[in-house]
Amino acid sequence: MTFNFSFAQHATPYYYYDTDLLGRTAAEAMQQAQRYGYHIHYALKSNANVPLLQLLRAQGLGADCVSGNEVQRAIDCGFNPQSIVFAGVGKTDDEINLGIGHNIGCFNCESEQEIEVIQQLAAAQGKVVTIALRINPNVDAHTHHNITTGLEENKFGIQLWQLPAVIERVKTLPNVQLTGFHFHIGSQITDMQVFATLCQKINEITRAHNVDIGHINVGGGLATNYETPDQLPIPDFAGYFDILHKHLHVREGQSVHCELGRSLVAQCGSLISKVLYVKKLRHKNFIILDAGMSDLIRPALYGARHHIQNLSSAGKDTEQYDVVGPICESSDCFATAVSLPITQRGDFIALRSAGAYGEVMASQYNLRKLPAAVYSEGSKRG
Ligand code: LLP
Repeated sequence: MTFNFSFAQHATPYYYYDTDLLGRTAAEAMQQAQRYGYHIHYALKSNANVPLLQLLRAQGLGADCVSGNEVQRAIDCGFNPQSIVFAGVGKTDDEINLGIGHNIGCFNCESEQEIEVIQQLAAAQGKVVTIALRINPNVDAHTHHNITTGLEENKFGIQLWQLPAVIERVKTLPNVQLTGFHFHIGSQITDMQVFATLCQKINEITRAHNVDIGHINVGGGLATNYETPDQLPIPDFAGYFDILHKHLHVREGQSVHCELGRSLVAQCGSLISKVLYVKKLRHKNFIILDAGMSDLIRPALYGARHHIQNLSSAGKDTEQYDVVGPICESSDCFATAVSLPITQRGDFIALRSAGAYGEVMASQYNLRKLPAAVYSEGSKRG
């Protein structure tokens, strides 16, 4: 990563977004999807910053939302309401009403009870809403336990054994129209074979249930390379869509949708921080940053490793460090025993690949300020 602006101009910690890389990533994803006529709905949960959303919308992506506020943000950023899908295992009545009011493209429904509520609220607004059934296919995503969603033990989706009854029930509801099947089995899926297995499972399910399904939504999950972000900063979208195309049976007139988040925005973002102190103990050295788990919680929550780069020193002499934040708990640790150029107080440090599930998951723990956002074209939003 090279910075084409002076990172010292801004108060740390802050997220820095390379919008040029994001533009190239989105263009590549769209180009590969369009080879097969597939649709991408960007998962706002991974990063909902307005400049990024505007860029993704301009590239032709739709939106995948999981809260009323995300639906509103997508609308405010100019996404066509018909390109918005709304998922989530616990949609409130207000959130459902908001989606109905804006005529969004699809509600991805997670239970029969939710569908009954949508029926009531749609009838009250005098509308017919389009829904997809989020089906839990019981496919293992082979990823971190906390971000696995497609197993029977998970809270998500309608179980396969419930499906026939739900389909029959939906047929009787006048204000709800079933148009699709939706799946999402997990995130940071590195094994492409998992997507092939998912497609085969989807084929079985659509064969077994004789309903006229207009679209199939395979969810998100494509992984990002956290180890070496400068090699292949743009994920293998061609490989991903090829697998879908090869394994998914698509009937005449059916459309295929996906909901990518991480793979689109992770690499364009870095958390920029300054070294407050270097603490030398007998057996190890600590680098204490001014960024902590309140700014980037992924290492503490999932044991995630973000590549760490000293932006102030590229010296050849290195030392091993534990890189930690200032927060009063030991889980506030970004990495242990990493080799970095000899580092000093005042050095700038980048935590790489932090564009997805970084800023959106920041908190004010310890009454800290939320990190700011800086964009490569120079604009700053706090
Ligand atoms: N669709 C649904 C229904 C989802 O639940 C998710 C992510 C996505 C799409 C987007 O998945 P992606 O393409 O980004 O993998 N905070 C965690 C990740 C949580 C993912 C939640 N769902 C992390 O930092 O790793």
